[in-house]
Amino acid sequence: MRSVKLSVKGWKSVETCLAVLIVLQSFGLGAAWPEESAPPRIDEEIVKQEKIYGSRGAAVPSGYVTGRALSDYAELLPSGFCEALGSLGSSDRWLDIGAGDGQAILDYYAFEDGAASAQKCAQSLSKARVVAMSIEDRRTDKWRQHAAIFGGDRLRYLAGKRLRQYSREELGKFQIITDVYGGFSYTEDLSGFLAKVLSLLETGGVFYTMVQDVHLEDGKDKPDASCLTELVDAAGHDVKVCSWLKQTTCVQVACESKSDWDSPTELINIRKICSDVSVSRMKLLHYEAGVPPGRRFQLEP
Ligand SMILES: C[S@@+](CC[C@H](N)C(=O)[O-])C[C@H]1O[C@@H](n2cnc3c(N)ncnc32)[C@H](O)[C@@H]1O
Repeated sequence: MRSVKLSVKGWKSVETCLAVLIVLQSFGLGAAWPEESAPPRIDEEIVKQEKIYGSRGAAVPSGYVTGRALSDYAELLPSGFCEALGSLGSSDRWLDIGAGDGQAILDYYAFEDGAASAQKCAQSLSKARVVAMSIEDRRTDKWRQHAAIFGGDRLRYLAGKRLRQYSREELGKFQIITDVYGGFSYTEDLSGFLAKVLSLLETGGVFYTMVQDVHLEDGKDKPDASCLTELVDAAGHDVKVCSWLKQTTCVQVACESKSDWDSPTELINIRKICSDVSVSRMKLLHYEAGVPPGRRFQLEP
């Protein structure tokens, strides 16, 4: 029985990344590779990951949550997200990468008698145009109804491809880009993913995201713990995700470390301040399918 909900915040006790990995492994969704055994083959793991994306009904792993509400986004994204979303005008644009069912967007577009979650986040009469992106098509009847009412131009759902497979011309530019347990947590090319996201942001726009089970900027996680997403430098020393992000040019990065969450989680706000963005490249060392997958990246010199 798979009952671990690895993508949900809110457990009270502080657990180490290592503990999470042990649980993951015992459920066959693991991300650790003991030194004595051979590391998983990346291509095989990517095939397994595809099966998770394509899973339906009872086959969906319990940790693969695709229907978070806007109120969940408000908790899982850095402070300031709701205010920023609420300040968008009707010609502004919001891209949600890894939108799953698109529930957060439906809450944002809730009718005015609407959902409680919409009342807590982004209260405003004018609504931005929204693009939901997911590898697999998880549109619900509710999504189709909303899209029919508001128009496919205001509520657009893109499926069948990964972020990197869209051209900038196809997608256009956005004032806000979000990612809650989406591509930032799942991609096997983290630096390429970030570069693509930043290329789609207007100058002054913000990318709101998060990543769980990482070494935290505030250092309050256990420094020797293994993590779901690990970054190392050329010499193999740990690099914090926020330290890497702060090497990017033309952005301001702010990280909120949640060391008291069950899984140490970094909430990340990246504001684009000029157009000459350059992201420090990383190569993938390990990838192990999961929800989210385990990944190890090495910064290129
Ligand atoms: C666990 S679901 C999260 C859904 C939603 N954000 C939520 O919190 O309920 C992961 C989503 O990320 C998408 N995803 C993963 N990697 C992606 C990528 N590189 N480009 C676009 N979507 C991606 C998946 O297709 C799926 O829609």
